[in-house]
Amino acid sequence: MARSSPRYVCTACGASHAKWAGQCDACGAWNTLEEEGAKAGPGPAPKAGRRIALAGLDAEERPAPRAASGIAELDRVLGGGLVPGSAVLVAGDPGIGKSTLLLQAAARFAAGGLSTLYISGEEAAAQVRMRAKRLGLQDAPVRLGAETALSDILATLDAERPGLAIIDSIQTMWSDTADSAPGSVTQVRAVAHQLTAFAKRRGTAIILVGHVTKEGQIAGPRVVEHMVDTVLHFEGERGHQFRILRGIKNRFGATDEIGVFEMTGQGLAEIANPSELFLSERGQPAPGSVVFAGIEGSRPVLVELQALVAPTPHAQPRRTVVGWDGGRLAMILAVLEARCGIPFAGLDVYLNVAGGLKIAEPAADLAVAAALLSAREGEPLAHDTVVFGEISLSGALRPVGQTENRLKEARKLGFTAAILPEGGKPGPTGGLGLTRMGQLADLAGGVFGAG
Ligand code: TYD
Ligand code: MG
Repeated sequence: MARSSPRYVCTACGASHAKWAGQCDACGAWNTLEEEGAKAGPGPAPKAGRRIALAGLDAEERPAPRAASGIAELDRVLGGGLVPGSAVLVAGDPGIGKSTLLLQAAARFAAGGLSTLYISGEEAAAQVRMRAKRLGLQDAPVRLGAETALSDILATLDAERPGLAIIDSIQTMWSDTADSAPGSVTQVRAVAHQLTAFAKRRGTAIILVGHVTKEGQIAGPRVVEHMVDTVLHFEGERGHQFRILRGIKNRFGATDEIGVFEMTGQGLAEIANPSELFLSERGQPAPGSVVFAGIEGSRPVLVELQALVAPTPHAQPRRTVVGWDGGRLAMILAVLEARCGIPFAGLDVYLNVAGGLKIAEPAADLAVAAALLSAREGEPLAHDTVVFGEISLSGALRPVGQTENRLKEARKLGFTAAILPEGGKPGPTGGLGLTRMGQLADLAGGVFGAG
């Protein structure tokens, strides 16, 4: 029996509800529930099924070679190039540079011999051509279409059989199988479903562009994330020139890779050595500034952490963190207080990862603690020192993976000293002075004379 009552879907998180409500109780967003296209009455009777062919796990199947764009920062995040027949979602804020990146990628894929279609639903063909000209890509063999009707796009793809089709953006496309407005959850889901099914059927790789908005009027690409093979987030801070392409989900590769770009007057430029970029704005030695030797995916990345600790005028002191996890900051503060006897009560704490990078590694714990202590004591850490290591609730320091890679990158960038936990394999240190510690209290007492 088909359902006769309508269902409501949250445009922010995709949760499904039986009744309409002002607030989604799954994610807490307001005014995001939208009726999903419900058809009344029983549907057509189910057809008798056909027996499907089954095969063993060891069946011989040579994977089609991946297509590389030659843009190393993009290829790496894709897991080593684009897999034929895969569906990729590139999501990001409006204006962050998705169309620019994908037009550049389209040109490179096409120049590499992959037949490429770029379908724009947001801009007229003339506008896209103008951007191509600005990027110096007007001669690339990309075929361009401006269209929003999915049936026409599918008919075109079926006739053209390209290796890659870029759909910019999913929110502007509409399918006549759903009767709500473009951008609604029902539409976005229907369009994504038909395009990914096409990709699988015909072996065409599809890249979908999706806008993320906070307002929830446009369906969050969340609903699409489950349908595609790969989800990439394109992030960046408004005031900063650099952009980070981050793998969130990848059926064909690792998900912790990032690609780093800089937005220039001629489009996005690859940043092959992100450490240099993230450290480029570093000034004189200052209290609260510490360089963390991190790993993003397969690559070491050095980045500056900045902390500010100041007496608070408020009853409830502030804990503000940008680029790191707020819960993790609270934990480090608690360990500093409980295990090292260094209280932060009555003090506002601000922590910032310079350059707009977001760090998720627990290996940043020790660098954060060093920044907090340095800021609290008004004591700068030596300018040529990098810090990394995980902190446990007992106050003990734990070694982290890829110690050797972190130290190698630090050496390459001219650092001469490192503070890290005992244990782990530092490898040949090549003149880098190592200070290895077992307890967080060693850092507080030994380096900052606190506690
Ligand atoms: P765009 O790719 O249109 O963003 P999205 O598709 O994510 O909405 O890029 C928009 C911004 O990028 C716009 O503010 C202008 C800027 N830009 C440059 O700085 N340099 C360039 O070469 C191009 C094409 C755009
Ligand atoms: Mg765009």
